[in-house]
Amino acid sequence: MKSIVILISGRGSNMEAIVRAGIPGGRVAAVISNRPEAAGLAFATSHGIATDVVDHRAYPSREAFDAALAEVIDRYAPDLVVLAGFMRVLTEGLVRRYDGRLLNIHPSLLPSFPGLHTHERALEAGVRVHGATVHFVTPSLDCGPIVVQAVVPVLPDDDADRLAARVLAQEHRIYPQAVAWFVSGRLSIDPVGRVLLGHEGAAPGGMIVPALDDDQEIS
Ligand code: GAR
Repeated sequence: MKSIVILISGRGSNMEAIVRAGIPGGRVAAVISNRPEAAGLAFATSHGIATDVVDHRAYPSREAFDAALAEVIDRYAPDLVVLAGFMRVLTEGLVRRYDGRLLNIHPSLLPSFPGLHTHERALEAGVRVHGATVHFVTPSLDCGPIVVQAVVPVLPDDDADRLAARVLAQEHRIYPQAVAWFVSGRLSIDPVGRVLLGHEGAAPGGMIVPALDDDQEIS
């Protein structure tokens, strides 16, 4: 059974989707938040999952916070560490500590729109499609090897909230899928940094294009 530790900062809906997926061979050993008020902690507790808070405001530097965070993470001997709406930039040392076993979800089709306010920026740019990306974490922000992406249309009457909701629904599909692939040992990274799915070394990483609902047709 692979041990999974999930890091959150708030709502925790992606964490919830991963827990609810009941991924075979994977056990969510702990949910850790940098904010004591994170709503997702209550869900984890109610599902019998250990929770911890490492409050970044209690540490004088990013390095000190990350050292404390690593100490808590390592108590659960994780095979996989999952960033699920964890809104702290990690130091290079922490990223390297979990090299190859640290996943993140980002609410855009990377490499477009790294960083914050992705939905607003997508609307401003006038892109016709938007989405979400699960990727391995590397020291460069929102830049690591891509595991899976989900695409959604940008509709004429969208605002950031409507677009975010459409993207979030897809996040809840692709993150459990990516974690399941990791847990079953199907993910590897080729020499130029692309993710391979399966053991043959030939298949590309996943891409999920959801079917458009009837009321979502692009005219
Ligand atoms: C999600 O949309 C996730 O992609 C995003 O924060 C939200 C967390 O929601 N993450 C980032 O922006 C990371 N840069 P959740 O707490 O309900 O999972």
